Amino acid sequence: MCGIVCYAGRQNAAPILLEGLKRLEYRGYDSAGIAILDSDQKTAHVVKSVGKVAELEKKLNLRELPGTCGIAHTRWATHGKPTEENAHPHTDCTGDLMLIHNGIIENFAELKDELIEKGHNFRSETDTEVLAHLVEEYLKGMDEPDLPEAVRKALGRVSGTFGIAVLHRNIPNKIVVARRGSPLIIGVGQDEFLAASDINAFIRHTNKVIYLNDDEMAILNSNNITITDLNLNKIDRELETVDWEVFENEKKGYKHFMLKEIFEQPETVENAIRGRIIESEGISKLGGLDPVLNRLKNLQRMVFISCGTSYYAGLYAKYLFEILTDLDVNVDFASEFRYRNLRIDENTCVVAISQSGETADTLAALRESRRKGALTLGLVNVVGSTISKETDAGIYNHAGPEIGVASTKIFVSQCTILALMALLVGRSHHLSINEGIRIIQELKKIPDYIKEVLKQNEAIRELASQFLNYHDFLFLGRNLNYPIAMEGALKLKEISYVHAEGYPAGEMKHGPISLIDSHFPTVAIATQDYSYEKMINNIQEIKARSGRILAIATKGDNSLSTIVDDVIYVPRTVEVLQPIVNVIPLQLFAYHVADLKGRDVDKPRNLAKSVTVE
Ligand code: AGP
Ligand code: GLU
Repeated sequence: MCGIVCYAGRQNAAPILLEGLKRLEYRGYDSAGIAILDSDQKTAHVVKSVGKVAELEKKLNLRELPGTCGIAHTRWATHGKPTEENAHPHTDCTGDLMLIHNGIIENFAELKDELIEKGHNFRSETDTEVLAHLVEEYLKGMDEPDLPEAVRKALGRVSGTFGIAVLHRNIPNKIVVARRGSPLIIGVGQDEFLAASDINAFIRHTNKVIYLNDDEMAILNSNNITITDLNLNKIDRELETVDWEVFENEKKGYKHFMLKEIFEQPETVENAIRGRIIESEGISKLGGLDPVLNRLKNLQRMVFISCGTSYYAGLYAKYLFEILTDLDVNVDFASEFRYRNLRIDENTCVVAISQSGETADTLAALRESRRKGALTLGLVNVVGSTISKETDAGIYNHAGPEIGVASTKIFVSQCTILALMALLVGRSHHLSINEGIRIIQELKKIPDYIKEVLKQNEAIRELASQFLNYHDFLFLGRNLNYPIAMEGALKLKEISYVHAEGYPAGEMKHGPISLIDSHFPTVAIATQDYSYEKMINNIQEIKARSGRILAIATKGDNSLSTIVDDVIYVPRTVEVLQPIVNVIPLQLFAYHVADLKGRDVDKPRNLAKSVTVE
């Protein structure tokens, strides 16, 4: 779930680890800690703090922390409050062994009881600390301390998920890392080796990486690295080169990464469609799906599974595929999908949509789909992530890192690529070449449409300043715009901490209308399409109850401004692509409300960029 950074090399480890933690800050966390093996290779330093990495930095006197081997962690608490005691690294009884962990040890309670029976003393409330004492227990029984073997045995007792790193004061210049369900990537530098839960942590040092798979370990020191399975059988794994330039992770003059990423969206759409459309034939070309094209042609049903903002991309896809293909289409929250008894077989395609490619709920739902024989596809941004490796085929967003915890550019990228997928499948069904060409011609204009909305940024900020005292919002949309209403509500609530709920507009009169009064504003997506008249009815119903209405309207629709209180106009495109344009003003509105309220927009409280726990 949170952040792991390790270093073994020639340089002092502490500054490198601290920089790595700072580059992982965007993932969200509540406490942090670091452990360094001193250059005398006899002393170990462990420093922990609650709150931001800056708090940890204040406690560290880097000059007093010489040592070229160390591990560091940012925690997103699952077991035990965010306190210094519960922060990682956790140590064994002697204080000689130091361990950091991402994930959940599901059988920690029984292991803890067993270890207490054997005389181990625990200091924290966490599940993680059990691992430290378990490794200690296995080290005890050895003539010569063999850290990889002790870690192997300990992990053999564990159920749950882990990304771990282990250091021992009496075993100098050696870090053991292992993963199951939480990402760990190795960075291979010049006489130095790093490991982290996210490439961003060490991208400044090297872009040569080795991806660890589940149930694999690595033993790092300053001279070499050994990759093994959990039985310590050696594995040869090729070195890969990551093309993420460090500069992509800088704010480039924007106040927040989120604002930068909102303004990147024209380019994001261009990157999503580049090389993937053949206008003359009205078709899309998705190389990642080539291996499964025949199976795609004979499908009977599709199911989209994902979480959060990625779920709303899947909800948009449901409408898209229903309109453009002949398939039965379903969508579900991954955390719900796992426990449903949907008819899934070889004629079903399950599409996992995930920015991080590590979301535990989505991964679990994907694995359930594979067990039932479905064709599984991934739509993922992070190259080499677990989900991208466990699907039969897939497509990468190629949108670069998304640093803001609240997803914006990736959502727009997901919707764009889902439109390409629907076009691909639809044109192998009954979608005409003319309709295909028309969609492609409009897709190519979407970047310009987005730029036109972005030009209203200051006006939207001014508008947002008028909504700072409201405590509740309703977001309404119909059909293809219903997912956008849901996403707009999620954006506002997750970064401004203001209650906002999205609703299908037609449902508003079946309950939520009782909430409407002058203190309860509504954001209504009312761009001109076949449901426009019905949307106007809903707007009138709200107006009749003194509700304030901010409408997203089609440029040139001047009649709406006589009915509603505020309007943001957007350019018109084909109905199936209009939602991609309609979400932009909602992203800006949420951003400015949150910023004007002084919220930590890039790292909203309690949130994490990648939720690798269930
Ligand atoms: C994004 O705004 C949210 N913070 C979050 O809901 C996110 O979309 C969700 O956790 C899924 O993440 P994924 O796309 O990496 O799977
Ligand atoms: N479950 C561990 C804890 O609560 C690790 C949480 C995380 O992944 O940050 O400390």
